[in-house]
Amino acid sequence: MRQVRQDLVQIAGGDPDLHTCVLLAGSGTAAMDAVLNSVIPPDRGVAVINNGAYGARLADIARCYQLPLVEINFAWGEWPDRERIHQTLTSHPEISHLALVHHETSTGMLNPLAEIAALAQDLGLSLIVDAISSLGGVPLDVQQQNIDYLLCTSNKCLQGMPGLAWVICRREALEQSRQLPRRSYYLNLYHQYRHFEANGQMQFTPPVQVIYALAQALREFRTEGALNRFARYRQNWQTLMDGLHQLGFKTLLPEPQQSPLLTTVLEPDDPHYSFNQLHDVLYQRGFTIYPGKLHTDRTFRLANIGAIDHKDIKSFLSTLREVLQELQIRVN
Ligand SMILES: Cc1ncc(COP(=O)(O)O)c(C=O)c1O
Repeated sequence: MRQVRQDLVQIAGGDPDLHTCVLLAGSGTAAMDAVLNSVIPPDRGVAVINNGAYGARLADIARCYQLPLVEINFAWGEWPDRERIHQTLTSHPEISHLALVHHETSTGMLNPLAEIAALAQDLGLSLIVDAISSLGGVPLDVQQQNIDYLLCTSNKCLQGMPGLAWVICRREALEQSRQLPRRSYYLNLYHQYRHFEANGQMQFTPPVQVIYALAQALREFRTEGALNRFARYRQNWQTLMDGLHQLGFKTLLPEPQQSPLLTTVLEPDDPHYSFNQLHDVLYQRGFTIYPGKLHTDRTFRLANIGAIDHKDIKSFLSTLREVLQELQIRVN
C-alpha cells in the first residue's frame, strides 16, 4: 500500500513532502463522500459546479451532510461560464471550498479545470476536483493547478479493478481538517490518513485483491508511460469519432469541450432504432454501449477507456456498421 500510495501521488503530479494519498475501500463515490464530509468547516461552505450527473452528485452529498452549499447550476452538457462562477462566488464570502468534476462522464465534457483553478486561487478557495474518470487518461497536475483534494478511483483510466477510491491531498490542508466534527465514522479522511501515517494501514479491512490489481495496473501504466497512454486514448477516440461521423452519427459536444475518453452520441431519428436492441446485439458480439444520461436529448454514450487499442475501435466500428444494416437503422 505504501508503494501504491507513493505512485498515485506521483501520477497526480504531487510532491511526496507536500502531498499524500489516502486510500479508501469503496467505489469512486466513497472519495466524493469522504472529502465533502471531512474538510468543510461548519461555519463555512462549499460551492459546487454542476453541469452533469456527477456535479449533481457532489451537491447531493453536500446536502446529505447539511453542509452550507452554493450550487452553481448549468444545463447538463453546458460549458461552465467563468463569469457566472466568478460572480456567484464573490457574492458568497462564507464559501471556503470549490468543487468540480474534471471529466463529467455523464456527457463527456472535459471541464475547464485550469481556468476554474486560477479563479479559485484568486479568490483564496480550496479546490476539490473529481478526477475519477480522468486521472491517467489526460494530463493532470495537482501542483500546477493548485488542487487541495483530487478524487480518483482504480477502475477507469488507470485500468485496475473496481473497489478502491482515493484522495490525493495537500497535507497542510488535510492537517487543518483534524479539528472538524467527524460527520462520518467510516469515511473520515483525516482519521484514515492518521491511521496510514501511524501504521501504514487502512483503519478497517482493506480490499486486498483490488489493491494488488491496482499495483499491477500501475506497473503497466509505468511500462506504457503516461504520455503514451494519453496518446493511445486520444488516437482511439479520434478513430472512433471519424468512424461515427462516417456512419452519419452526430455527437453532442463541440470538439474543444469534448474529452478524448467518452463521447455522447445523438440517437438516430429512425423508427427501427431502439437503444436496448442495439445494446443487446452489440453486447452479444462483444461490445458494451451505455445509455445516455441527459434528460433533454436522446443520446447514448461510448467510452474508450481501458486496455483497448486502435484495432478494437476499428472492430467496434465495423460491427456497428453491420448491426445497423441488419436492424435496418438509418442514421440521419
Ligand atoms: C466523474 C465521476 N465521478 C464519480 C463517479 C462515481 O463513481 P462510482 O460509480 O465508482 O461510485 C463516476 C463514475 O462513473 C464518475 O465518472
